[in-house]
Parts: sequence; structure tokens; C-alpha cells
Amino acid sequence: VTDKEPAQLMFAPLKNDLILRAARGEQVERTPVWIMRQAGRTLPKFREMKKEHDFFTICRTPEIASEVTLEPIEYYDGLLDAAIIFSDILVIPQAMGLEVLMNPAPFFPHPIETPDDLERLTKNVDVNKELGYVFEAITLTRHKLEGRVPLFGFSGAPWTLFAYMIEGGGSKLFTKAKTWLYRYPEASHRLLQHITDVTVEYLVGQVKAGAQILQVFDSWAGDLSPEDFRTFSLPYLHQIAARVQENLSIAGVDIVPMVIFAKGAWFALKDLSNMGYSVVGLDWTIPPEFAKEQTGGRVAVQGNMDPTVLFGTPEKVRETATNMVKAFGKDAKWIANLGHGIMPGTDPEMCRVYLQTIRDVSRQIRQ
Ligand code: CP3
Repeated sequence: VTDKEPAQLMFAPLKNDLILRAARGEQVERTPVWIMRQAGRTLPKFREMKKEHDFFTICRTPEIASEVTLEPIEYYDGLLDAAIIFSDILVIPQAMGLEVLMNPAPFFPHPIETPDDLERLTKNVDVNKELGYVFEAITLTRHKLEGRVPLFGFSGAPWTLFAYMIEGGGSKLFTKAKTWLYRYPEASHRLLQHITDVTVEYLVGQVKAGAQILQVFDSWAGDLSPEDFRTFSLPYLHQIAARVQENLSIAGVDIVPMVIFAKGAWFALKDLSNMGYSVVGLDWTIPPEFAKEQTGGRVAVQGNMDPTVLFGTPEKVRETATNMVKAFGKDAKWIANLGHGIMPGTDPEMCRVYLQTIRDVSRQIRQ
């Protein structure tokens, strides 16, 4: 018995499954590559769309979200080995009942301030009702991809979403969110658990809709001390990996590889490689040797050139990317990416130089 969506059975077969094979730790003929935040920020069609539509309108309109998702695949003409669905990590706080605006940075008009405010959150979030638009966008995108490359689904990690919900937006110091951890540890765990429960259902829904690999972004992991990361982030990351895979199995849906990207959490690489994810993302501060040693071959790794290098000359980009490919080496279980999202204002042609270099050099070193 299976409750696979009928749509899932009708997708075209994959023509390029390099990233799925690398994520499972299999040998590949060249290193697969994609770019965090490839679908927004820099490309011309997205920048035009943004003039016409509000950010969350784009997310909520499957036709437009799927076009934005496909833009980098078409723009870089075969140089990318994965697509990532156009959405945002903040759709979860929205589904939980908080208003989130994007003007142009995230802004919560009524953030969570005290434990009493947790009463304002929706208790039993109906994920299909609140986030069904993401599932529709994923299914539509799978059809439009016609098997060219696998499609990533994603979510924010509980700690990162917790921080947004309490700070009311981005932050340099995270004073409010961290104050919660020290002053209201019990209420903090309650909110982190609530976010985790919604996230598990959300990621399972994405796979049922057609996502072929998942990434969890813990963008603010590095703002926590190692001990606080172990207390307030890691257990929830662990739960997400375990429960998503378990729920997929129960539903008779094939399990997909999961990537954990905990930015700044170099101190936790060993723990992260034991959490049930098949890939651990690396930011640009982590030396490849250190990552290989800490993760001990238990997982594949992903990353990690500093996105700012793309503001350098083409020669500098080629040189840095070449050194990175050589440092990870031909036997590494490695997916190439940047060490964080591509930065606003990056010339897409510099990104093309980066992608081409990884393709050429990773092939060469295998000969
Ligand atoms: O490739 C993609 O871009 C796919 C879609 C995607 C977006 N956000 C679209 C977006 C993904 C994967 C995200 C994740 C996300 N969103 C993260 C985790 C990744 C990371 O970079 O650490 C975080 C922390 C957010 C929260 C968020 N959303 C911020 C801080 C901002 C403001 C500025 C910015 O560009 O980061 C957003 C808005 C946002 N989300 C934009 C895009 C394309 C920019 C919208 C605009 O240009 O107005």
C-alpha cells in the first residue's frame, strides 16, 4: 500500500542524478555543483518579477515560483546539477500564525516577546492548507524540469526560525533570542519543539509533492556556543532527520537524501555527521582537511568557497575554485557549492566561471 501522490509517478525520469549519487556517497565521474540562493537575488528574470510582485506573492503563486526556480537552470545552461524550489524559510512562522513582511529584509510586526505570546501561535497547524502552495509549486516545477536535474526542497532549522520569531527579523547579536534560552529554557524548548513538529510535516509534504533531496538551513547556528548548540539546536535537527525518514517509510514513499547546513558550527561537524543526514554543509571558514577528518567519511560534505570571491577577477575565481577542487580531492564524497548563499550584486557571469571551473577541474583530476 502506498499513498504516493499520483503526480509523483508521472514525472519524467532523471537525466542527471549526479548529486543524488554523491549525496549517497557513491563515486561520481565529476563533482556535482549547485549554488545556495541560486534562484533569487542575482538573475535578470527574478529581478524583473520582483518589480511586479511582492516577495511572498511570488512564493505563493506556483506558476511564478516555478519559473523563478527554473531560471538558473536555463541561464547557466546545463552547468547546475540541481534546482532548489523558490520559497523562503519564513513560510513556517507564517503557517504558525505570525505575520511576516519582506521589505526588503524580513520583518515581523508582532514578534514573540514573552512565553505568554506562545498562546498566539496556531496549535495544530494544517500544513496542507497553510503550505499547500509550496507543494503545488514543487509538483509543477518537477513537471517543467522534465528530469533535467533533481529538485531540492528545504526548510529553516528550528533554532534559526526561533531566532527570527523572537528577534522580529535579522539580528547581529541575537540578544533577544538568546535571552530566551537563558531566562525561559522550558518555554524555549516548547517553541523549538513546536517548530520541529511543523517542519517534519512540511518536509514530508515536500517529498510527497516531488522534492528529491532536502536541505535544512541553520543559518544562525554559529551564534550559539558549542554547549548551547548541543542543547537548543542539535536535538531538533536530529529529530527532523529521523522523523522525516520514518514518516516517508510509513507512507511508502522513497526516502530522499537530507543535507544539514549549520553555518558557523565548525565545532559541531562531528556531531552533525551522526544525526541521520547524508550530507553536511560547510561554510567557507572550514578547511576541507578538517571537514574530512571530523566527519570521518560517514557523510558527504557540501561547500564551500567564500561567496565574496565571486566579486574578484575571473582569474581569481578560477584559481580559488581549482584549489578547492584539489583540496577536496577526487575520492571525497563531495558536492560543490559556495560556503553560504550567493551575495546580492554578484555578476552572474562570475558564477558561470565558478561552475565551469568545478566541472572542468573535477573531471580532469579523475583522469
Ligand atoms: O535559491 C534560492 O534563492 C531559493 C529560495 C530561498 C530564498 N530564501 C529566497 C529569498 C532560500 C533557500 C532561502 C532561505 C533563507 N531565507 C535563509 C537560509 C539561507 C541563508 O542564506 O542563510 C534565510 C536566513 C532566509 C531569510 C531571508 N529571506 C532573508 C534574511 C532575506 C532578506 C535578504 C536576502 O536576500 O537574504 C530573505 C528574502 C529572500 N528570500 C530573497 C530571496 C530570493 C530576497 C528577496 C528580495 O530580493 O527582495
